[in-house]
Amino acid sequence: MDVVTSQTIGVEVNGTTYEREVEARRLLIHLLRDDLDLTGSHIGCDTGNCGACSVILDRTLVKSCMVLAIQADGASIETVEGLAGEEQLTPLQQAFSDHHALQCGYCTPGMLMSATALLRENPKPSDEEIAKAIQGNICRCTGYWNIFEAIKAASE
Ligand code: FES
Ligand code: FES
Repeated sequence: MDVVTSQTIGVEVNGTTYEREVEARRLLIHLLRDDLDLTGSHIGCDTGNCGACSVILDRTLVKSCMVLAIQADGASIETVEGLAGEEQLTPLQQAFSDHHALQCGYCTPGMLMSATALLRENPKPSDEEIAKAIQGNICRCTGYWNIFEAIKAASE
């Protein structure tokens, strides 16, 4: 029996199409960071706990350390690099800046993707819905309050 150890896949990331040969065991986060040089998505744990690697895959928020690259074949992916325009932050990014919602910034890409996914689905979330949306994202610096305030401000 032949064992498939690598496969050529195609993905669209932030509107650009890429084709790469990947090992069957390669994770999406490593495809993004190491093969496509999109290092905005961070790796905080590699075990699905911290949320630093969160991206939007075919309009669904995922932790990219929990997805094999081959599972993303044919998918459209959004990463933090795709949020802002050439010269303009999204209202959510601006709110993070205005509300001092980041310190070391390690969690910020994942927080932004989780909050972006929330606000697209639910532009006026309740306090509970905001808290629930970022419950899979760990921040060791801020105490979460400023992040919460930033998301709330962006929703207003
Ligand atoms: Fe993916 Fe922590 S690196 S959840
Ligand atoms: Fe440092 Fe969140 S700002 S981990």
